[in-house]
Amino acid sequence: MKIVAYGIRADEKPYLNEWSKANPEVTVTSTGKLLDETTVDLAKEADGVVVYQQKPYTANVLNKLASYGVKNISLRNVGVDNIDATAVKQNGFKITNVPAYSPQAIAEFTVTELMRLLRNTKTFDRKIANGDLRWAPDVAEELNQMTVGVFATGRIGRAAIQIYRGFGAKIIAYDVFHNPELEKEGIYVDTPEELYAKSDVLSIHAPATKENEHMLNDEAFSKMKDGVYILNPARGTLVDTDALIRALDAGKVKGAALDVYEDEVGVFNTDFGSFDKIPDERLKNLLKRDNVLVTPHIAFYTKKAVHNMVWFAMDANKSLIETGNSDKLVKF
Ligand code: COI
Repeated sequence: MKIVAYGIRADEKPYLNEWSKANPEVTVTSTGKLLDETTVDLAKEADGVVVYQQKPYTANVLNKLASYGVKNISLRNVGVDNIDATAVKQNGFKITNVPAYSPQAIAEFTVTELMRLLRNTKTFDRKIANGDLRWAPDVAEELNQMTVGVFATGRIGRAAIQIYRGFGAKIIAYDVFHNPELEKEGIYVDTPEELYAKSDVLSIHAPATKENEHMLNDEAFSKMKDGVYILNPARGTLVDTDALIRALDAGKVKGAALDVYEDEVGVFNTDFGSFDKIPDERLKNLLKRDNVLVTPHIAFYTKKAVHNMVWFAMDANKSLIETGNSDKLVKF
């Protein structure tokens, strides 16, 4: 049995080696390169491929894989929004993801960023760097006084709720699917609009779909409380960045923590050498603001998560090859 692992980073390699040692019957080949037109041939003799990338998995590449008889694809991440769904269905691919490598990693980071926003730490870091050690006027707000609106109560949303509760925040939530435990507690509101109207903090944990692209747009912001805080550790496409900038300029949004950005592919996880060389003026506009925390899609990036992404994806791919099935199969 042969598995080819694409896009393996240096920090993933030790976990891949561990997995390989524990599964000596599997021949594992790995490359740091992503799966695209130039590398797809590496999979020619494989029974399955294990991948992670933010760049699209195009129909062209998927058709080529299928022509080599490689139909088992295991993602090392959760999101499946960069896969050409038509090509998946037409070729009968079996695709797995890792739905829960560490929901807590993302939840912990989201709340960390919220606390940084509420306590004005970016402002104080800047002031201190300039020798200004005064308090005023940057008096903080307390989370225990606030209502947090959680948009989507999947694993990550639920992990975030647990932490928000520890801070004593009031929680409300919106989701099409109601979690039975949370339902019993009566935290759900009926519409996104109700969530917007009642939340001091909006914590977004939805996957990206065609339907929710730019769901946070001018109209949505206009329905929110004045001075709302926006947290997006989910997907950049959920937020209309221009509308967010307008809402920040108007003071409608008091602060935002963005671990994702709609044009992040090819920009995040890249070293440009200096701030000036970052090739995206709109992103730089956000990065320069004291009340906006932009991070390069690092909420997931913990040792536990990276370990689980590699191990769970390799296990799932092996299971697909051996049994034609996996408990991590994604429906397209
Ligand atoms: C995902 O798992 O879909 C993520 O967003 C994290 C990714 C950057 C590895």
